[in-house]
Amino acid sequence: MKNILVTGGAGFIGSAFVRRMVEKYPEYNLIVLDKLTYAGNLDNLLPVHDEPNYRFERGDIAHRETVERVLEAYEVDTIVNFAAETHVDRSILEPDAFIHTDVVGVYILLDAARRLGVNRLHLVSTDEVYGSISEGFFREGDPLEPNSPYAASKAGGEMMARAYHVTYGLHTTVTRGSNTFGPYQYPEKIAPFFITEAIDNRPLPLYGDGMQVRDWLYVDDHCDAIDAVLHQGAPGEIYNVGGEHELHNIEVTRFILGALDRPESLIRYVADRPGHDRRYALTNDKIRADLGWTPQHTFEEAMRATVRWYQQNEWWWRKIKTGEYLEYYKAQYAGRLAGAQE
Ligand code: NAD
Ligand code: TYD
Repeated sequence: MKNILVTGGAGFIGSAFVRRMVEKYPEYNLIVLDKLTYAGNLDNLLPVHDEPNYRFERGDIAHRETVERVLEAYEVDTIVNFAAETHVDRSILEPDAFIHTDVVGVYILLDAARRLGVNRLHLVSTDEVYGSISEGFFREGDPLEPNSPYAASKAGGEMMARAYHVTYGLHTTVTRGSNTFGPYQYPEKIAPFFITEAIDNRPLPLYGDGMQVRDWLYVDDHCDAIDAVLHQGAPGEIYNVGGEHELHNIEVTRFILGALDRPESLIRYVADRPGHDRRYALTNDKIRADLGWTPQHTFEEAMRATVRWYQQNEWWWRKIKTGEYLEYYKAQYAGRLAGAQE
């Protein structure tokens, strides 16, 4: 590996990956290709802006000419794809962009990689492709039963990666990460949304009964798992990446309120998300046994550090919570909050 294309590298996890890799591997060149959608943000890459082994290109992974030009210009040998539309609620309101990026975009990347002889392509996927599980833990061989347009589009991208490995022998790998949190996360996912709303003493809209379960993974652990798979993962393999820390949404909410010293009276129980998955849970047995990766951060320590980061970096999130963000907030929450229960 020498020249690594990081698609979606201006988003939450992609930028964390670039910030870590640029420092950890000065011998690699990290080239970011990002469309800069509402979720893409060059502020996330400011810490590496002047690093000699970092470059940025703006472009769409679903645009074949752009992808091929960048692969050739930088003699890319490795692709790590983070680029995606990622928010379940947006996929329910408007699925089009999800098909464009998470299905067609992934296909274009795979096809360009095959044509131009890229050595390996890693797809960053999600535990949501499995669907919901009431008891036990998902394993990599379990059937995929995605329930939201987001999860279905990610599963579609994964299926195409599988086909490119089996049919053309492309070295593909896939990670299925669980709910990830940390600094620089766009404030629409529950953790950064509730943290920034609570800082301003605004209501926190909890869907349904708040008893849904998610597995929580700190962003640095997620990035280290991808690093491990890139260096040691076997071609065609899929690896679960869980934080090994399940919590009900109400527990996450209470933890955030406690860390900010805000009252529980900010919680509002609002109309549920349609098709809401009740529980996500997965086992790390394979990645532990094969690659020796385990999560290094506890939820409590990492979430406290995350809350502190949002308290100390209002410059980063206040300017995001304007314009398009407010339109989305209105579409997603205005009606729900009007009919909310405390
Ligand atoms: P994000 O929404 O913060 O960032 C996505 C990035 O992709 C943005 O920079 C955006 O501009 C870029 N992008 C979108 N469409 C593009 C296109 N057509 N071409 C080029 N760039 C495009 O997402 P994230 O939370 O950092 O997630 C990164 C990846 O990890 C995604 O593939 C997601 O499915 C996966 N994942 C996320 C989580 C999570 O909890 N956030 C968990 C598991 C897996
Ligand atoms: P989210 O952060 O959107 O991640 P995902 O849907 O990928 O798991 O949501 C995490 C959980 O929090 C999920 O069960 C939905 C719930 N949730 C709320 O209750 N209220 C909210 O405003 C949001 C954004 C999420």
